[in-house]
Amino acid sequence: MNRFWNYWVVVLTAINIAGALWLLWATSRKRPGHQGPAEETTGHTWDGDLSEYNNPLPRWWLWGFYASVIFGLGYLVFYPGLGNFAGRLGWTQENAWAADVATARKQSDVQLAKYDHMNLDTLRHDDNAMRTARNLFANHCAACHGTDAHGSKGFPNLTDGDWLHGSDPATITTTITQGRVAVMPAWEGIIGPEGVEQVSSYVLALSGHPGDAQMQRQAKAGAEQFATVCVACHGADGRGNIALGAPNLTDNIWLYAGNIETIRETVAKGRNNQMPAHADILGATRVKLLTAYVLNLSGATDEEREEHEANDSPEGDAHEPTDTAGTQAH
Ligand code: HEC
Ligand code: HEC
Repeated sequence: MNRFWNYWVVVLTAINIAGALWLLWATSRKRPGHQGPAEETTGHTWDGDLSEYNNPLPRWWLWGFYASVIFGLGYLVFYPGLGNFAGRLGWTQENAWAADVATARKQSDVQLAKYDHMNLDTLRHDDNAMRTARNLFANHCAACHGTDAHGSKGFPNLTDGDWLHGSDPATITTTITQGRVAVMPAWEGIIGPEGVEQVSSYVLALSGHPGDAQMQRQAKAGAEQFATVCVACHGADGRGNIALGAPNLTDNIWLYAGNIETIRETVAKGRNNQMPAHADILGATRVKLLTAYVLNLSGATDEEREEHEANDSPEGDAHEPTDTAGTQAH
């Protein structure tokens, strides 16, 4: 608040309090018990003969009002309320909120302490631990990856066993603690619209959708473009590179949908994607729980993955590459 508004608020508050006091004083001059003429009324008459006595407030009620004025003055001394004056206690909403968060965090740390020394394998098979992890996932991850972790456009599916950055526990822990930044460059300015068209047809063909004769012709030209400009990140065979977070383009699992329009858009304009770092928000034990949870989502080994898919059948099918021109996410 600038100076003017500060004084404006201070003066208005002072006038209000003074006004309230005056009103109390003015209406209480006649003491209860003061025996006026019995007919002293407010002067209003209803229904011909119904009128209202003009008696003062009961004394206890009056003192109640005075007490609330004193409370109000005390409040303004200790808490913020009078213009820019912060109050003698230094209380702020942010401090109060931070203190609440710290208390809740401490309580939850105590509950999680039993997991501090368990290893990932034990955690993965501990029902209580995984229930806790599911809650953590719902609170911290589901907004982007979905409550079922199936992801959506731009947000990878964590249940499909297909990885942008890698599936080993250390990599997943790094992803969660440090976050990830993924940059797919924009190519339109370099290879031109024609080049974008060609290489996009090639990408679609890579995942088993060669398209019509015209698209096949374009894909042929696109293969050369791919070998020149895309190979550095997506590899000669298009299978991607987890060290760079460059997706496998041959598996028909898509981060941004596998139709020609979306692929063209990705290639022409590029993509910037980010998974935020969670180290400070979560702390080591929660990260460990979530790493175990993410490993369980997809199954770390093929065996576990099969088992997982058998248990998860209606959705399990959706993780498999299908020939519906890939609308799935990674
Ligand atoms: C603000 C959105 C957002 C939140 C919140 C978020 N993520 Fe992510 N996450 C992403 C994005 C986007 C990517 C993909 C990054 C890329 O394109 O390389 C990603 C990638 C990942 C990956 C790597 C997947 C792969 O294929 O390699 C894992 C694992 C992951 N997130 C787990 C989590 C967990 C666990 C949490 C909760 C602690 C979480 N994420 C919270 C957006 C988010
Ligand atoms: C500098 C490395 C790099 C180069 C070069 C590169 N890409 Fe990418 N590409 C990426 C990364 C990283 C992503 C993932 C972006 C993300 O996570 O959002 C990506 C994503 C994509 C996707 C989206 C895949 C999906 O699952 O939705 C397509 C399609 C693609 N690239 C095609 C190409 C083509 C075609 C070329 C060559 C013209 C190319 N890329 C060159 C790094 C690269």
